[in-house]
Amino acid sequence: MDKLLVRGGKPLHGTVRISGSKNAALPVMAATLLTPGVHRLRNVPRLRDTQTFARVLELLGAKVSFDSNLLTVDTREVNSVEAPYELVKTMRASIYVLGPLLARFGRAKVSLPGGCAWGPRPVNLHLTGLQAMGAVLEIEHGYIVGRDARLKGATIGFDVVSVGATAQLMMAAVLAEGTTVLENVALEPDVTVLGEVLVGCGARIEGLGSRRLTIHGVTSLRPIDTAIIPDRIEAATFAAVAAMTGGTIRLENVMPDHFEAALRKLEESGCALQRAADSVTVSGPARPRPLNVVTQPFPGFPTDMQAQMIAVCAVADGTSVVEDTIYLDRFTHVPELARMGAQIELKGNVAVVKGVDRLAGAQVMATDLRASACLVMAALAARGETLVDRIYHLDRGYESLEQKLAALGADIQRIH
Ligand code: UD1
Repeated sequence: MDKLLVRGGKPLHGTVRISGSKNAALPVMAATLLTPGVHRLRNVPRLRDTQTFARVLELLGAKVSFDSNLLTVDTREVNSVEAPYELVKTMRASIYVLGPLLARFGRAKVSLPGGCAWGPRPVNLHLTGLQAMGAVLEIEHGYIVGRDARLKGATIGFDVVSVGATAQLMMAAVLAEGTTVLENVALEPDVTVLGEVLVGCGARIEGLGSRRLTIHGVTSLRPIDTAIIPDRIEAATFAAVAAMTGGTIRLENVMPDHFEAALRKLEESGCALQRAADSVTVSGPARPRPLNVVTQPFPGFPTDMQAQMIAVCAVADGTSVVEDTIYLDRFTHVPELARMGAQIELKGNVAVVKGVDRLAGAQVMATDLRASACLVMAALAARGETLVDRIYHLDRGYESLEQKLAALGADIQRIH
């Protein structure tokens, strides 16, 4: 298993080009199943998760090819509706094929994803929403099985804001018969952009960017031809690296509005920011000021930046409070940071972080994607050597992370 060896303590400086967004790319990849044709997705990050999703599409009969960051998906000969456990268990986003398969073929057999490192992560809203649209779904031997579904418009109100359920039902509704109204939808850019991509293919969706979507079903769509938006979490992570190491990093190819909540927190911590249309320059303070952070659905502070922010707070000049309201158990990075000298007390879903002057290198282990990013950040700021184990999580979600960090002056090395 690969590890990363980091010799920390240096401020990082320079320019980093932010890759396409993983969380925006995956639902668009699923949406290629809605209509037979040759779809072109540009700026797709080359990651384990996008490769796994490509494999899911291939198993369904699609022809998929990656040429640098251009992904071409030919869905003209899709001839299977089964997404197997072996793939779904490695990547929960595979569940996104359910709505498109039901919408196009009236059938689907998709493995239930099961739990993840930070808790149960249910998909009940996906299922009840599709059922409200007329799908008959059974759970058989760990699979969600839908047969003879003819999706019809329905009014569906979500009791919690869910990125996954909003994307899933939006994809199902664009080809359903009649009008679907989705209430209390997610506003994350990944979801809004999926809607815009579908509209570009001929879907009729009203209310994008608001909490209520009205979707009039159409009988056919044109193939997708789009560029995936920049990854707001990768951008915010590099901004946090500048904050943590006291360096100056220019983020290129970003949409600053998409990670404004994180930028505002970094400003509060003492960073100086220069925002432009598609770039942000972040200069970290000598030592970050402590913060209060509460994760919220977009446009609030993202749960996907909670771990990285705890890393910044771990070296802040005072005591910070970080609360995750989206995933209450998403704190596996906390005991690992403690091994590097961080002083963090966990009370349920609230981390009280007493900043220390300096972290110290140690052997640590990553347990999920953002927790891994947090540990790499801590390693970059720590005195001495840190060995981060199980970094395959990072390969799921950060394109060329160690090359990008090395280009900013980090002493970082992958050990096979
Ligand atoms: C969440 C984040 C997303 C992030 C992703 C991976 C939010 C709103 N979403 O998305 O930004 O990229 O984690 O870290 O911050 N839920 C249900 N039933 C369902 C679906 C969800 O109860 O069927 C609950 C979840 O348990 C969670 C909340 O709704 O508490 C948000 O879920 P959702 O946005 O769907 O989660 P992800 O798609 O995993």
